[in-house]
Order: sequence, then C-alpha cells, then structure tokens
Amino acid sequence: AGGVLLSIAALAPVLASCSRETEVPVTDAGAPLPIPPLLEPDADGRFTLTAGRGTMEFIPGVTTDTWGYDGDYLGPTIRMQRGRPVEAVITNDTDEETTVHWHGMLVPAHADGGPHDPIRPGETRTVAFTPDQPAATLWYHPHPHEATAQQVRRGLTGMLILDDADAHPPGTVSGDSAPSAAEAPSPSAEVLAALPHEYGVDDIPVVIQDMRITEDGELLGHNFTSEVGLLGRTVVTNGVVGAVHTTDRRVLRLRLLNGSQARSYGLRLDTGAPLTVIGSDGGLLPEPVEVESISLSPAERAEVLLEVPDEGVALVSSEPDLGNVADYEAVGGEDEFTILHLEHAGSGEAGSAASSDSGGLNGSGGLNGPGRANGSGPSSIVDLGLPAQLVEIPEPVSDGRERQMTLRGRQINGRSMDMGRIDLVSSSHQPEVWQVSNLDSSPHNFHIHNAQFRILDISGEPPPPEMAGWKDTIYTPPQRDVRIAVAFPAHADDHSQLPYMHHCHLMLHEDDGMMGHFTVDVSEQEALDALQRTGHE
Ligand code: C2O
Ligand code: CU
Repeated sequence: AGGVLLSIAALAPVLASCSRETEVPVTDAGAPLPIPPLLEPDADGRFTLTAGRGTMEFIPGVTTDTWGYDGDYLGPTIRMQRGRPVEAVITNDTDEETTVHWHGMLVPAHADGGPHDPIRPGETRTVAFTPDQPAATLWYHPHPHEATAQQVRRGLTGMLILDDADAHPPGTVSGDSAPSAAEAPSPSAEVLAALPHEYGVDDIPVVIQDMRITEDGELLGHNFTSEVGLLGRTVVTNGVVGAVHTTDRRVLRLRLLNGSQARSYGLRLDTGAPLTVIGSDGGLLPEPVEVESISLSPAERAEVLLEVPDEGVALVSSEPDLGNVADYEAVGGEDEFTILHLEHAGSGEAGSAASSDSGGLNGSGGLNGPGRANGSGPSSIVDLGLPAQLVEIPEPVSDGRERQMTLRGRQINGRSMDMGRIDLVSSSHQPEVWQVSNLDSSPHNFHIHNAQFRILDISGEPPPPEMAGWKDTIYTPPQRDVRIAVAFPAHADDHSQLPYMHHCHLMLHEDDGMMGHFTVDVSEQEALDALQRTGHE
C-alpha cells in the first residue's frame, strides 16, 4: 500500500496541470535569431540590471509566463573590460529571493552572487568589482540556495562578454602568488582586431537551452524519470524556436553558451564542414583548432568561427561525447536538434534587398580567395587570413597541493551542501591539483567559482587541444577521473570572508546539494563567522 501512496504522490504535480507536454513546432520561415541588447557600464562603471517577470509566446498564440533581466526572457549581453571597475545595481522585481552570479569571473566573494546573501523581492543591491582576467565569453545567472534551476529555466540567464579592447596590461604578478588567470596575459590588440568582433554582426551570442512546455504554455521542471534533470524536446536559441540568422558576412564568430539545465550538446555543421574553435570557457585558445563537432555540457562555452556558404548552413546537435554513460538514451544522448540556421542575405527567399558580400573577411572573394588552391572541401579558417596564434597561455602547474573530489549520487566526497560548513581552505599562494572522479554511471559536470583552471588529464589522457585552455566548468564522464590544475587569485579588497562554491552544474544536482564550500585566504573559523553573520550556521 505504501508503494501505491508514493506513486500517487509523485503523480500529483502532473495531474494538477491538466494539459500535456508538447514539442513546440518550428514554423517554415523559422524565427529571426534575437540578438540580446548590449549592456555596457557608463563612464563611472555603473549599470543597472533588473530581474523581473515577463511573458513569451513560444507556442504561437499561447502565453508562457517567464522571467527575464530587463525584459521578458533572458537578459542583455553585459560587456565589461579587463581592469575597469564596475558597479552593478541589481533590482529584484520578482517575488522570490535571487542573486546574480558572474559565472567564470574571478571576483571577490562579496560580489560572487552566492546563496549566502540573497537579494529579497523589491530590494536593490549594488555590487562592485574589477574584472581582471583575459578576454572571454562568460555568463550570469541566479544562484539562490536550492532554487537556481527553476529561476534559470524561467529565463534568468544572460551572456557576459569580457573584453580587452585596449589591450589592458595583465595584472601584476604578486610575488609568490599562484599562477591564476588573473596573471595571464591578454590577447594582443592585433589578434582581437583580426577576429570577427562586431557584436550581433559577425560576433554572435548563441544561448542554447532546452525546455519542457505544455500545450497551455506552462514551463515544466525536470522529468521525474531522468537521472540528470530536465531534458526537454524543445530547444530555444536566444529564446526562440527555429532560430535563423541572416548575414552578409562570410565568416562568423559564434559565442556558444550551453544554458541548459542538464542536456549536453554535440554541436556540428550539417554540411560536415569543420568548426574552428578559438576559445573555451575562460578565453581564447593558443591557436585555432578545427573540429568536426564540439560537446558542451551545461554552463560550458566555446567560441567558434565558421564560414557561411552561399547556400547557408545549420548548426545542429547530435551525439554529444558523453563518454561511457550506461544509458546514453536516458540522458538525452540520442536526441537531435537544429540549433541555428545561418543564411546569406540576398541568397534565396531569406535575403534582403541589399545583398552585399563586402563585409566578408576577404570581400566577395572570401570563399574562393587566393588562399584556396582548389574549390572542393571546406577551407581552413586560417587560409582566410585569420591569425594562426591567438594568445599565450602559461603551462599549467601539475604538482600543486592535491585534493580529491568524488562525485556520486548528488554528493561530493559523500557530503551534501551545508550552508554552515566549510569544505576546503585554499590559498592564493599555493596552486592545487584537483582530481574530480565521477563514480556514477551517468553524467555529472564540475564548476569552480572564482577560478579559471586547466585540464591536466582525463583518466591519464591529455585533453584535446580545444579543451586545453582556460576552463571553469568541465564535463566529467562516468567512471573517469579528470585532473585539473587550479590556482585562485587573491582579492585584497574582499572583507566579506564568505566562501565560494564548487559544484555539479547539472542544475537539479546542484540544487539537490551536489555542492561544496571553499575559501581563499580566509580561515575556516573566519568563514564560519561570516556565514553566521548572514544567518547561516
Ligand atoms: Cu554557473 Cu555556481 O554557477
Ligand atoms: Cu551532477
């Protein structure tokens, strides 16, 4: 009888919503890819951001209640500069506590947007910090205790582009400090100028999310049968289904963000042409890497260059590289999606009246320019005049202080998140090597706050070059050990003494407690006192 009661209880939320889950159809014409507006700090470094409610029509004619930053769904693309102080004035116009976490950014703990210090409904909070790390594609999202998943899936997610437009010199190496990304050199102004960099024109933000939606337009949470969390049949790109981007450029740079709850994508071009990966989570790679496909687990980013042929091309997702998962299908590995159609202005019906190839890298000769001996097969991006060297990345330190992180059953090292416990005490003076071991037969991934780290090896194998740059989130295949070299920057201006988090970024797992606390240059007792001051013990 107990079993029967239990299953009725489990069904209750399903029964309560009387309409069925559906897959949003893609209309023939597709939908133009929305380009989120750019949000840049003013001359004093200030900008405002408001989390609030909105509505969308993912299903034509059907209203869906959503959340967004400064709008109905998702948020503006915030653009910051290395070395320039910012002051974010954040207002919470929702009816739940929230925070804003700058994912991938090296920030003092008081500005990290962790769960310890939520912004209450109606409240406005000012958060100040100075970005200091190489140019990168980062993002921002809420991080409230046990409620990150639902706030992100309603739409609170945005991209954050960190620039180094004027080649700001890297932070000065402070004596005996560990080699964190804060000490890493920026790419040169020449390289940044040679890469596509006109936002929304040839430098395109691409936020990829899957969703579960009912015929009535209600967004659902995770599937009760899924190990990993929410796996939806509808994929939205920058918030629309069937996204089409029409361009007059030959070469585009896509900044890809997997903003999904649990789904990993294996991204490739439907023509079989290569993607040229130029950047990972924390910035540019030393040199471009051509790949057939690139897998991104939740929260991971990649910057890719691709050529848009006359007949157009589509970015699709199939067969992500999930390693040896026991049940590939059950974790969404067999699902296929079209993420983004890229079409040329002027070619076919999609074109506008003013067709021009003049914006292409080599003008109209881009595709068949002098760099290409014969017309067959995809050309190499480097042939198109793009830089062969991008940025200097220091060698990772492989003999730092060792730590073991085991991932099993929504716990790290056998423990669930405790808001009143400190799990590790780190120092900005000592590099560390973390061995992250997934002991389960299904996927997890792993993210560390206030850090850009480097993969040393994956079960003894060196990472492929596209994964060898700066990372803040890694996919952790079942039954594998990933060793990473971590060095934390010091934040002399942080007086909060609050801890940072490391966690699985599958959002259901994260909210279920697959998370730990660490400090940098703060003792366990100081951090516990700080937690107590915020009401956690
Ligand atoms: Cu993207 Cu702890 O977060
Ligand atoms: Cu997990």
